[in-house]
Amino acid sequence: MRTTPNSSRGTSGQPGGLPAHALSGIVGLLLFAFLTVSYAQRAVPSGEEVYVDRLGCWNCHGTTGQGAGGGVVLTKTPLALRKFVSYVRLPSKEMPPFAPIMASDAELAIVYRWLDGSEAVKAPPAITVDLKSSAAARTGGQASAEVSVELIARVAETALPSDVPVAASLGYRVTLTSDAGAPLANHAVEYQRAGRNDWSKFTTDEHGEALLGADRGVVLAKAGQTDKARARLRTALPAGKTALVVETLDYTAPANLVVVGIGSAILRVE
Ligand code: HEC
Repeated sequence: MRTTPNSSRGTSGQPGGLPAHALSGIVGLLLFAFLTVSYAQRAVPSGEEVYVDRLGCWNCHGTTGQGAGGGVVLTKTPLALRKFVSYVRLPSKEMPPFAPIMASDAELAIVYRWLDGSEAVKAPPAITVDLKSSAAARTGGQASAEVSVELIARVAETALPSDVPVAASLGYRVTLTSDAGAPLANHAVEYQRAGRNDWSKFTTDEHGEALLGADRGVVLAKAGQTDKARARLRTALPAGKTALVVETLDYTAPANLVVVGIGSAILRVE
């Protein structure tokens, strides 16, 4: 065991008053404390902090995701990140839903990575995808109603410049899941890229997913320039809730797409 003698702290030998260099030392210490605090606020929390302290997932899934009291195991979940996020937003059974205001997409990505999910995910994602949907659409007696969504991608505050691929090699993947947990397969969706007036059409596959590809142009918003970066999606949905997840993918190596951004929203039709 090591002990530090008090005399080594150099408190002796200051004759009377508070000398100028001591004062500047105190100011320096305060400044240091301030910088440390503001740095800590921007630092990325650990998966354990988010899972245990912030979101309380441990109450039902155990402190390490091992499944508490016969509950569901989350460790090494076979779900892809987009399905994991879809489930947390719109659970189909007993679990209470977590809205983005309670658990951000970045926080869910951090938790997913900490749980050692099956998909290799960099967390937090380098790109934030903000999705804003129109107010609950009404079917008015029809089978479905059109819902439109605004989509803005921007570099996350926590991202290092080296984590952000050039915009030209970024593309979107759209995933739609029903409130029963089923993929919205073969579902038609329209897309309007940022700064354009024309719409293009695509259809989801059997997993409720569609790749929009790098050529569909992801525009990253700069501060104060969100208008120019606003893309749009629209689709006809049946009554009920639908989970929408939009990821930004790095197409630099097309055979090995990397998820670099994620955003989610619940779309409502009455
Ligand atoms: C009040 C209890 C409760 C809380 C809190 C809770 N869950 Fe769940 N979760 C469940 C139950 C129960 C299931 C099993 C399916 C169901 O009944 O919805 C489940 C299922 C899941 C699934 C689907 C697993 C699969 O393999 O299909 C995921 C993912 C999940 N939870 C993630 C989370 C995360 C992340 C949090 C924290 C933000 C969380 N849960 C908080 C109770 C909870």
